[in-house]
Amino acid sequence: MSALIEEVNKRRTFAIISHPDAGKTTITEKVLLFGKALQKAGTVKGRGSNQHAKSDWMDMEKERGISVTTSVMQFPYNDALVNLLDTPGHEDFSEDTYRTLTAVDSCLMVIDAAKGVEDRTRKLMEVTRLRDTPIVTFMNKLDRDIRDPMELLDEVENELNMACAPISWPIGCGKEFKGVYHIHRDESILYQSGQGHTIQDQKIIKGLENPELEAAIGEELAEQLREELELVIGASNEFDLELFLDGQLTPVFFGTALGNFGVDHMLDGLTEWAPSPMARETEDRKVEATEDKFTGFVFKIQANMDPKHRDRIAFMRIVSGQYSQGMKMNHVRIGKQVNISDAVTFMAGDRERAEDAYAGDIIGLHNHGTIQIGDTFTQGEKLKFTGIPNFAPEMFRRIRLKDPLKQKQLLKGLVQLSEEGAVQVFRPLINNDLIVGAVGVLQFDVVVQRLKSEYSVDAIYEGISVSTARWVKCDDVKKFEEFKRKAEANLALDGGDNLTYIAPTMVNLNLTQERHPDVVFMKTREN
Ligand code: G4P
Repeated sequence: MSALIEEVNKRRTFAIISHPDAGKTTITEKVLLFGKALQKAGTVKGRGSNQHAKSDWMDMEKERGISVTTSVMQFPYNDALVNLLDTPGHEDFSEDTYRTLTAVDSCLMVIDAAKGVEDRTRKLMEVTRLRDTPIVTFMNKLDRDIRDPMELLDEVENELNMACAPISWPIGCGKEFKGVYHIHRDESILYQSGQGHTIQDQKIIKGLENPELEAAIGEELAEQLREELELVIGASNEFDLELFLDGQLTPVFFGTALGNFGVDHMLDGLTEWAPSPMARETEDRKVEATEDKFTGFVFKIQANMDPKHRDRIAFMRIVSGQYSQGMKMNHVRIGKQVNISDAVTFMAGDRERAEDAYAGDIIGLHNHGTIQIGDTFTQGEKLKFTGIPNFAPEMFRRIRLKDPLKQKQLLKGLVQLSEEGAVQVFRPLINNDLIVGAVGVLQFDVVVQRLKSEYSVDAIYEGISVSTARWVKCDDVKKFEEFKRKAEANLALDGGDNLTYIAPTMVNLNLTQERHPDVVFMKTREN
């Protein structure tokens, strides 16, 4: 096997999807503990401690206790090299999350077992469905009183339309939580409370009929476990690798992230079954991860990652081949050769210089405004990766300057921020307004703060009656011209000069669509 294939096969690149508060941060912390990337749990979100997560760069995040940025952590586990892409946790700020999901090969779905499937998980699962991303499930918070586990599986099956294959099964819950029975290994692993910040020595009882089980968890619970398992194993699906890789079946693990229990079972499953870096589609052909030549795409641009550097970093998913320091890449959209001498990797939050990186890895390129989300880089071939969307914003504000003389800076700032995907900006064709559109309301605050700190412009918002926006196109030039003439008052250019229909109401949008059936109104746009 070539060295490249060996490196690629080792890699597992995944992200966590969950509803806020289900335990994503906690489980990330424990995963890093197992990956030896943290010495002691409690440092990812140790509010107030100076060892706070490296992803909490911006002051605002710290103030609000939410992570606006996406970061990447790489660590070894078993024989695998795992890349965990962190996704912003706040409900509001989801555009970045969506795009991050285009850069992974599998997802971990964390569910609060007291609550079951919640809104945001539902929404994010819709996104993973677009690419049939394989999903591993972790039912969290078993140290609390949870819902009937069978009912939880039913809910995932019915609401998310995905078969469940339990790999472990809980023994009690809440105060009575004794551990899990690992169905594949035929062993009970016992839980000790109060050990959440370390990797625990495990007490394992082999076999369901083992009398040690009675001694450890009591006769009643042991009997109940055996009965439940008979039912569960009869009624639920067996794990099937092919269905899992197809996104149709999810292996389900039970545990408590806070108690650091069961997280290792989940990681074992994930590293064993989740796919190594997968092929990605371009406009012309599919690119396999093990192709010799380097290719990659940018899914995220982040500013101010390190207050000392004040730079912007473009996050690139390597799709094929290998990156090595100093290599030349073709920045396909602008048709230019660039010399990449100082890409960064994200080893567990520390920015280090990437010496080598392979398909499946994420590297960070310093960006001086030339890189946009969705850009493809190759070793020469003219390719364009597809499937990295911009989403039509759902909230709008007019943005205005306190000092009107700085209009040029404001525009420059907004266009750059929109290139990053931090916000979207629209310039109506008929006036000089600047309309800012966002998917989540938090984006507005981020933009004003960044305009001030990075572009020295003081801007304020005003309400505006815009309800939604759609990118428009039409194959018929004549009909498109007619549409543009009639709808001029509602047309605008976005940050990338794409024509957009700005609808004051949904009714207006529907009517306009009916009147111009040949015009395509798009909710998402790819660069
Ligand atoms: P998120 O990133 O998905 O939003 O969730 P996070 O990990 O921050 O967890 C949300 C809350 O749930 C936290 O409590 C966390 O301690 C708790 N939690 C996570 N996993 C478990 C678990 O297995 N069992 C129990 N009982 N609780 C769990 P918090 O009080 O909101 O925050 P904190 O002050 O503890 O940090």
